[in-house]
Amino acid sequence: MPSDTLTITDNRNGKSYEVPIEDGTIRAMDLRQIKISDDDFGLMSYDPAFLNTASCRSKITFIDGEKGILRYRGYPIEELAEKTTFLEVAFLLLNGELPTEEEHEKWRQEIVVHTMVHENIKHFMDEFHHDAHPMGILLSTVGALSTFYPNAPNVSDPVNRRLQMVRLIAKMPTLAAFAYRHRMGMPYSYPDNNLSYTGNLLSMMFKMAEPKYEVNPVLEKALNLLFILHADHEQNCSTSAMRSVGSSRTDPYSAAAAAIGALYGPLHGGANEAVLRMLRNIGSPDRIPHLIERVKAGEARLMGFGHRVYKNYDPRARIIKEMANKVFEVTGRNPLLDLALELEAIALEDEYFVERKLYPNVDFYSGLIYQSMGFPVDMFPVLFALGRTVGWLAQWEEMVLDSEQKIARPRQIYTGHDLRHLE
Ligand code: SDX
Repeated sequence: MPSDTLTITDNRNGKSYEVPIEDGTIRAMDLRQIKISDDDFGLMSYDPAFLNTASCRSKITFIDGEKGILRYRGYPIEELAEKTTFLEVAFLLLNGELPTEEEHEKWRQEIVVHTMVHENIKHFMDEFHHDAHPMGILLSTVGALSTFYPNAPNVSDPVNRRLQMVRLIAKMPTLAAFAYRHRMGMPYSYPDNNLSYTGNLLSMMFKMAEPKYEVNPVLEKALNLLFILHADHEQNCSTSAMRSVGSSRTDPYSAAAAAIGALYGPLHGGANEAVLRMLRNIGSPDRIPHLIERVKAGEARLMGFGHRVYKNYDPRARIIKEMANKVFEVTGRNPLLDLALELEAIALEDEYFVERKLYPNVDFYSGLIYQSMGFPVDMFPVLFALGRTVGWLAQWEEMVLDSEQKIARPRQIYTGHDLRHLE
């Protein structure tokens, strides 16, 4: 009778062990019993960059990388993108169900009352250099929020925990817009709580001297869709940082600052900015073969391509690509789109990319839309962070409430000097 176990034979001494298989995994701690002597520490698993290691159990997001499937709490991303708002998706990720009409209105009210930031944040922000990267400003100001809310570390109190989470979700657009206005040398524009979550961001960023900013509904809807697509993505690098830093029971603002730091990298959320710079450097279709040759020679990466989990087309990239034309009807077609489409067509035919299953990911087309909407290139990862904040918080709270979790503290294989003494 087959059983859900693994029989391991240690060929060093012929001993056998039965290890349970649960949810397609074995527990790494079950390897520690495998010893060759009483003072042997026992076996560990070695998995640099966690290529094949599950760090947690989660009910929030499901991805099937081979099939290009992404679901939030069981709902396909395509349906959520088409039929819901970002705040509804945020409620879904945090609470497990979409809000009723009444819950949605209460949730919206909860958010709008927290969109303002302490005036001292402005003085703090004013001290950044005029060309400071907005991700560096966001990372710092989110971390600074922990100093304004002394109760924030009390993460075991559910009411306090949720209050801090709502505060962060509500204040991220304000901090992002302030960072932008600082970069542009413009006065800060305060939240307009009569606008939607994305409309308010557009207003705080682009309002000039007019009494009330006129939100373009097509751009508002496009940003809403982009935030939904970026909201969560299971155990990606920045979410793992959020969970790992949060596991020391620090406050959620400090954990989120670490997550922003992880997202900033060009291999992760910084890729959307890197894609635009790459397309600008290519300049024209006749220079694509040169880039492809450099990529094959290992001298460059095709930014916006490839994924640790998706070995198929990233479903988010497909949705963004389809949405691009609606935005360009309003903003005018981004001339770099044709270059991106040509680059994708060439890459998807090329053996190097085909055999490595490298497809466009969420970052390949998003920057083209952000650029056409008037966002400067270095704001692109900030926009990624705005959408992902709710995912970080949902995953962080799931970690806080998970009785199996402890402070994250991996082991190592020591390869340094043996004992030695000073002369
Ligand atoms: C995001 O994890 C998530 O879910 C992330 C994310 C989210 O929503 O949170 O989806 C968001 O970060 C998307 C990814 C954005 N990053 C980029 O677009 C940067 C370019 N992509 C790569 O650097 C890379 O594909 C990664 C970082 C995304 C994934 O890297 P892996 O899984 O560690 O793969 P790898 O580096 O081991 O590459 C495997 C092979 C290598 O070739 P060989 O050594 O086998 O010869 O594929 C090659 C790599 O050289 N390769 C690429 C490539 N990506 C991988 N070659 C050229 N261009 C690329 N983009």
